[in-house]
Amino acid sequence: MRSFVVVAHKAVTTPFSLNDLPGGAGRMDIVARCVNASLFLSHGMRRDVDFYAILLGEPNPPVTIRFNGERVRYLSPDERSAASLIKKALERGAPSSGEDESTPGVYISKRSFEDVINGLDDVIYLHEDGEDFRNIELKGDEAFVLSDHQNLTPEEESVLEKKGARKASLGKRLYHADHCIVIVNHELDMREKLK
Ligand SMILES: C[S@@+](CC[C@H](N)C(=O)[O-])C[C@H]1O[C@@H](n2cnc3c(N)ncnc32)[C@H](O)[C@@H]1O
Repeated sequence: MRSFVVVAHKAVTTPFSLNDLPGGAGRMDIVARCVNASLFLSHGMRRDVDFYAILLGEPNPPVTIRFNGERVRYLSPDERSAASLIKKALERGAPSSGEDESTPGVYISKRSFEDVINGLDDVIYLHEDGEDFRNIELKGDEAFVLSDHQNLTPEEESVLEKKGARKASLGKRLYHADHCIVIVNHELDMREKLK
């Protein structure tokens, strides 16, 4: 299973208006685009991908939303669709332990960034100063960690360091998080094709 983990520092942890994803919802538009970049093919869904959004905005952080490509339903490739499934999950609320399925293939929990990272096996931190992505040995089932419009905090970086995450760069240019996810999916697809 390939995974993407996006830390959404300002994304709200309470139901929000679908008409103001960038403002009132704390850049939930970034999260929604990352869901789409992780899971969608043209006329198809990547069934072997898990997407995690760690929502750290007010009023009740952290909340983790997980989209599972194998099970997800009612998701179409527009920002409002992904955002509305996140909103539904927030309306349901996170259980005090474990994760609940709010709609098919969408899960909500109170897990923190550290909880999520510690539950994953092989973690790659995407950062422009890392080692060239194309020189990194990958099996294809790694978890790729990205930040939103802000940098990861030193505390979040130290969680990755403790986990032994490798740091991989897609080049010196700074890309949007969803664009990085498209590049990684494509790079891994090409490696599979070359096997
Ligand atoms: C929009 S960037 C973050 C912007 C940055 N924090 C800033 O404002 O200076 C979103 C995320 O995409 C990933 N990213 C962007 N460009 C990258 C690159 N060239 N190589 C690897 N990861 C990249 C990183 O994980 C980054 O945190």
